[in-house]
Amino acid sequence: MAIYLVCAIAALAGLLFGFDTGIISGALLFIEKGFPLTTVMKELIVSSVLLGAMAGSLLSGRLTDYYGRRKIILIISGMFIIGTLIASLAPNVNAILLGRLCIGIAIGIGSYTAPLYIAEVAPLELRGGLVSLNQLAITIGIMCSYFINYAFTNTEGSWRLMFAIGLIPAILLCIGMFFLPESPRWLVKQKRLREAKATLSYLRRTAHVDQEVAEIERSLNVHQAKLSEIFAPWIRPVLFLGIMLGFLQQVVGINTIIYYAPTIFQLAGFQDTSTSILATVGIGIVNVIATIFAVLYLDKLGRRVLLLTGLVGMCLSLLALSLAFQWDSAYLRWIAVFSTFTYVISFAFSLGAMLWLLVSEIFPLDVRGAAMGVAVFSCWFWNFAVSSTFLSLLNALGPTNTFLLYASMCVVGFVFCYYKVPETNNVSLEKIEDNIRRGLPLREIGQPVSVAPGKALQKPV
Ligand code: BGC
Repeated sequence: MAIYLVCAIAALAGLLFGFDTGIISGALLFIEKGFPLTTVMKELIVSSVLLGAMAGSLLSGRLTDYYGRRKIILIISGMFIIGTLIASLAPNVNAILLGRLCIGIAIGIGSYTAPLYIAEVAPLELRGGLVSLNQLAITIGIMCSYFINYAFTNTEGSWRLMFAIGLIPAILLCIGMFFLPESPRWLVKQKRLREAKATLSYLRRTAHVDQEVAEIERSLNVHQAKLSEIFAPWIRPVLFLGIMLGFLQQVVGINTIIYYAPTIFQLAGFQDTSTSILATVGIGIVNVIATIFAVLYLDKLGRRVLLLTGLVGMCLSLLALSLAFQWDSAYLRWIAVFSTFTYVISFAFSLGAMLWLLVSEIFPLDVRGAAMGVAVFSCWFWNFAVSSTFLSLLNALGPTNTFLLYASMCVVGFVFCYYKVPETNNVSLEKIEDNIRRGLPLREIGQPVSVAPGKALQKPV
């Protein structure tokens, strides 16, 4: 039970990620009424969080390796509180920008520190599900923000309150992290063996943790990688895999739906704003439900099967959306609603859950923090690139071709994942590192058994 509580508290960072990225579409409508905003200012308010997240993920890659995972999550909870206070009490637009930037930096750091921390405290047979709790928290955060957007549709001047609600999870995260233990893997790396053993005994509810500690030690002692090794030839393939997963998660267009769903629904024929926002709440709900499915079945069905099935589902949904706009039929708006729902469901149980899980698993311990930072930066960079060009693409290409473009990215994603993504189900992080060291092809680094070159790989246990 302790392990579930520990992971749920750390996953509050994910909830804040979802809440703070989702709330802005609704809050913006009210900020505009209080302060006259130019288009550039509006874009800045929306993208300040994404810019901050990019900086956070890039700058702080080494922070978690240096200061430890727990301390960094504690610090970002403080940044969430300060950023939220600045934004919700803002006397002018610049203060809103400052607050949102601060929140963005916290999101960027938290978006890799939380899954990293969870992956390092989780026992291997539960790791997939527990790390995906973070993605579940992201989707719950998005859903809450949609509900709040809907609840406040007709309330003037409510943006301050909308932002301020984010204080609740931020304070809970701060209090919770205060009591949580440091990652045992990080403690071993710091040669604080006694603490590492005590932490593991607490998490595993048993005093027999010597073997696990020894395995972590072995992975550290045998391979003393330096930070500069993040670009070393043996790490390059996994770094490439992480960067590509970050890229793919965003170029399939998820945040065109998450951030702009009401716009898409209006384009498809729903005239009134509150119906569009209500349909968006529906998106938030199915996103959560499909993620629960991922959390429950990831460790049973395996990563690859969910990933590949989801990519097919996303591609077909985008094709349907694209064709519906092309034919402009009477059913357009219903096809739009149906296909955005199936799209979000397919994303949630595949790329949504899998990016954060795989990037927390594939990197060797010594460079894990920094390498994850690079992969997560890729995700935030492409998030910014896709969401800040969506409206211009709609204008320039029209909805049919825009969604066709994202559908073609799903095809690229399918081919890439089919050939390159390993099955990491039920394999220890140390074994994955071992396989990378031995130069196994990317797709095979999740094999749990030793294989001599040229020999057939045995089935995972
Ligand atoms: C992505 C976000 C996205 C969310 C949707 C996350 O995994 O990184 O960009 O908004 O999923 O649920």
